[in-house]
Amino acid sequence: MPMVRTLALFLASALPAFAQQASDTLAPEAPTAPAAFGSLSPAAAAAMETRDSGRPVEAEDWMVVAANPLAVEAGAEILRSGGSAADAMVAVQTVLGLVEPQSSGLGGGAFLVWFDAATGAVTTLDARETAPRAATPRLFQTPEGEPLEFLDAVVGGRSVGTPGTPLLLEEAHRRWGRSGWSDLFDPAIRLAEEGFAVSPRLAGLVAEDPEGLSRFPATAAYFLPEGQPLKAGALLKNPDYAETLRRLAAEGADAFYRGPIAEEIVATVRGAEGNPGVLALEDLAAYRVVERPPVCADYRGAEICGMGPPSSGALTVGLILGALEPYDLAALGPENAESWRLIGDATRLAFADRGRYMADRDFVPVPVEGLLDPAYLAARAELLRGDDALPEVAAGTPEWDHAGLLAPDESLELPSTSHISIVDAAGNVLSMTTTIENGFGSRLMTNGFLLNNELTDFSFRTHAEGWPIANRVEPGKRPRSSMAPTIVLRDGKPVLAVGSPGGSTIIGYVAQALIAHLDWGMDVQQAVAMPHLVNTFGPFQIEAGTRAEALSQPLADLGYDVKPVDLTSGLHAISLGERLQGGADPRREGIALGE
Ligand code: GLY
Repeated sequence: MPMVRTLALFLASALPAFAQQASDTLAPEAPTAPAAFGSLSPAAAAAMETRDSGRPVEAEDWMVVAANPLAVEAGAEILRSGGSAADAMVAVQTVLGLVEPQSSGLGGGAFLVWFDAATGAVTTLDARETAPRAATPRLFQTPEGEPLEFLDAVVGGRSVGTPGTPLLLEEAHRRWGRSGWSDLFDPAIRLAEEGFAVSPRLAGLVAEDPEGLSRFPATAAYFLPEGQPLKAGALLKNPDYAETLRRLAAEGADAFYRGPIAEEIVATVRGAEGNPGVLALEDLAAYRVVERPPVCADYRGAEICGMGPPSSGALTVGLILGALEPYDLAALGPENAESWRLIGDATRLAFADRGRYMADRDFVPVPVEGLLDPAYLAARAELLRGDDALPEVAAGTPEWDHAGLLAPDESLELPSTSHISIVDAAGNVLSMTTTIENGFGSRLMTNGFLLNNELTDFSFRTHAEGWPIANRVEPGKRPRSSMAPTIVLRDGKPVLAVGSPGGSTIIGYVAQALIAHLDWGMDVQQAVAMPHLVNTFGPFQIEAGTRAEALSQPLADLGYDVKPVDLTSGLHAISLGERLQGGADPRREGIALGE
């Protein structure tokens, strides 16, 4: 056993039992060995060891945490040479699009939360994919008006929204960049041209999806060369991606939204055999990144800030924490079923509000202020006063300056996506969740990257109970997201950046990590690694194969339908105290690196 791991296991005996167990027993989906990533720097290999041992990575000046060691190294290279967190993000994202193509990339969208050290301001940027102008509310319905089967809608051109990530890279660099734009693409271009070692996670996911990945020739040729799934450790090159990045580096994001790349995106979407889409050149040319007001909720004296609609992330996390505020979770502790009854039912109540009220605010009124009003949160908290699981939950009636009747939503969101947390030497903080939606998105590939299927985050039905659904498809609208990139402030200073992939379970993962850190005093590595218990609607999901299963019977006794499942979060967090501490989720392949 390596020295660092032995020491960490020894130190772990001092930790709360639940957190200690998290790092000892949670099995990542696929074992990650530094060898699978080719030639990692000694620092990155050590960070991987540290992550698996349950200790946070510590640093003085800067820190980057993301889902793949090669991407983290690319960001570290930029930060080490004086780049800002925004510069590093461009390098991290472009490498993630190569080495973790199933989760995020140029063909997708993202939400970015930024704390600016110079001004103390929090800014949120919305680079969500957008429904084409030709999309109709019945985009995902049969001619008879019935919702399509989910995967029938996902695979092909119909689900592809106008990507936002390329313009976000440019916008973030324009606002906060210090390095030369074109230099930020060097690490990804180098890896795309020279090749990188396919990671165990990527190989495993390719092997699980031969049907989807073989639907379209360009995708099949890349992921199933000669008909065989890519193997872990195989050297993979992507010259088309390198060429796309060279154009972006030379010409800026315009090279993506106009001209040959845009034309090929549109041709790929409209030409998708069996399931063509309606994306047009005008949609790409019209795409805009939108700055939105941050949504901030108070919790335990801290301000929890994140992305407002069209994301439901910050609002739903705020609703959960707001309903929990009167309860002493710190005294109850993480191993107590009563803590999970409170968290589970607070989450169910929050999801009821999410389903009825949350969608793209440019299209439907959303009672953001009413939902986070202290009196409303106190009323929701009162509903948790009983001893057992709430027999039923329903949306509340927050104050609203708009009279409207909306029906509960029905959209299905499966685990996917990626999260990046960065702190730079100047103290700027970036928290960005980035996605192409489903694993491998629409399965359509062009110019070396996959296209998203983000439009399936809309509700497939337009109405229910005779009322319209807020998150129905409309032309130019952005589908509701669960992504919850978060920055926590105390007295105006940032103390934590965190976020996760995971579809609608993102909200539960992020809320749990915040509670673990703020109520239970766990450091960031313990907080991201602890076993998950997530209750949105339906059963109380308990992370299978972990010590959390000890809570199954007590929760069943309280009246919950309990289900052990894999809960593959990808939480990446940085805490800012006397030193920076980084935590990377052991369920995926990410690491934290800092100096
Ligand atoms: N597609 C994942 C999300 O936006 O929540």
